[in-house]
Amino acid sequence: MSFIESIRDILNKAVADSFPDSGPGFECQVAPCQDKRFGDYQSNLALQLAKREKTSPRNVAEAVVEAVLKGTDLKSVPGLEGENTGGDPFSASALVETIEIAGPGFINIRLKDTALLSELVRTLADPRCGVERTAHPQRIVVDYSSPNLAKDLHVGTMRSTVIGDSIARVLEFLGHEVLRQNHYGDWGANFGVLVAMIKQEYGSGLDELKTAPLETVEELYAKGSRLKADSREFAARAAAEVNGLQAGNAESLAAWQVLMDKTLQACHGLYRDFNVSLDASHDCPESFYRDDLPRVVSELAEKNLLVNDNNARCAYLDGFHNVDGDPLPVIVQKSDEGYNYSTTDLAGIRHRVGRLQAQQIIVVTDRGQELHFRMLRALAQKAGWLPDAVPLRHLGYGVILQEVTENGQTKKVRFRTRDGGTVKIRDLLAEGRRRSERLTLERNPDISGDELNGIAAKLTIAALKYADLKQRPESDYTFNWDQMLANQGNTGIYILYCYVRIASLFGKSGLDRDALAQNPGSVTLSHELERELLVQVVSFPELFSGYEEELTSHNICSYLYELAGCYSRFWKDCPILTAPEQVKHSRLVLSRAVAARLELGLSLLGIEVVERM
Ligand code: ARG
Repeated sequence: MSFIESIRDILNKAVADSFPDSGPGFECQVAPCQDKRFGDYQSNLALQLAKREKTSPRNVAEAVVEAVLKGTDLKSVPGLEGENTGGDPFSASALVETIEIAGPGFINIRLKDTALLSELVRTLADPRCGVERTAHPQRIVVDYSSPNLAKDLHVGTMRSTVIGDSIARVLEFLGHEVLRQNHYGDWGANFGVLVAMIKQEYGSGLDELKTAPLETVEELYAKGSRLKADSREFAARAAAEVNGLQAGNAESLAAWQVLMDKTLQACHGLYRDFNVSLDASHDCPESFYRDDLPRVVSELAEKNLLVNDNNARCAYLDGFHNVDGDPLPVIVQKSDEGYNYSTTDLAGIRHRVGRLQAQQIIVVTDRGQELHFRMLRALAQKAGWLPDAVPLRHLGYGVILQEVTENGQTKKVRFRTRDGGTVKIRDLLAEGRRRSERLTLERNPDISGDELNGIAAKLTIAALKYADLKQRPESDYTFNWDQMLANQGNTGIYILYCYVRIASLFGKSGLDRDALAQNPGSVTLSHELERELLVQVVSFPELFSGYEEELTSHNICSYLYELAGCYSRFWKDCPILTAPEQVKHSRLVLSRAVAARLELGLSLLGIEVVERM
């Protein structure tokens, strides 16, 4: 149990004791104190409860504080040594140093140093840093990245990849069984264009395409898209190719296969370069569902959920209208008999619930697909493919912007290349590495070769992923290399910098970090900043309570930023290696604990640490 949970329990019990009418069932809110001078945790329960109890918050607070104090030795011996209170380590006597009322009725609690220190020691060598596994493990599908493979991966897909990867990592860490699903687009209209182009340009000479560079595919696609817009004849051929693929035409499939091998290989290479935990075993693309599509439509028809609309087969659901107020359909088969994105997604739901036995499905895409998933959810529920007990959650993210100045005016527009094209992740990684190498060399002229390359690669990943994850996913954010790579401010680089500081501290001390963790001996506090750092360190597990509901990796970023900030204040005011032996030892132990939280927290964001930078 984390401290915050223990405090909540203690307060809940005190409320139930002192207010038997509204107390039972009342959930106290507890939060870390903003101003640490007042205490470590604060509750506004008295303000919440006063209305119901028709009395003043102060009266409520006094009664609750009284109830907490009852049965503890706090009143008689303020600031007692608590180590030997024995019994329940989560009881008020073991945890609470002071409990005080402030302002209109806030209750402030300061924890005992002994409780904090014993938690530090308890979790010091724990690779999970004190985070417990969930008591209710679920089998959860996380559908993310899922690029459209006709093009190289671009920044739009980057957000799904980064956010989804972090969610998958955290849920797995918490003890859930995560089934990563890369539902990449390899079966839609784009592939009709590509196959038609390949046939036109290569005929049966597919070997030539096999060895051509990856850009060839993009050029083919660009050219094909122009042709499709300009020539009815080509547009018809491209449409026929989609149906040809769907009908299993051997020649079309052969061309498509070459295309897939090429682009997929590149895609998986990129995941490795970007430290994304997706590989070929997670591939479950649109084409995987090709044989299920006719069944999806026929089952919907059997359930009387479809109507014919200009020869397209559509499902109309209550409550979905377009801007003009006309009912909005889910189209599952087009008038040319082809299937589309919705049909495939319905097949996906059937598969994930029926065969994969998912207890929850999370799909990470751009915010624009929100309506699509709401309609799918409604239709899949009506069709009996999605039981009420299985949530289908769409996590929609915002766009990446950039600041541009035109005619002296600065404005924010969608992030694009200079010539207006989509920005490729591959190019971003290359640019980030160039910049990171330069910055690393400025700080450390003696780093070179593989070490330099390795550091630059990790700094790039840290900069990109952290900049994306530090705000809520639904928010837009502005892309800016200089800000992302700065070692000051709320950046991935700043967090890494803190880690590197500790690594070099241990280098100088000549001590082995892990050996110290295994054998911490006696740890004591001698400075208020040590205590502040300690409170932050031992609150690490609190980050994860409620993660499953909110899927909020940005909280991990805020935590790491605060921890790094706290460490840097401590670093400035508390000398370590030159301090007297016991103080030095305790400060090294604390530093080790900070480094472990930084490393673990970053790894849950898909970011690896460096020892130098
Ligand atoms: N390929 C789609 C896109 O790029 C995302 C697919 C997401 N997953 C899904 N099951 N629809 O927008």
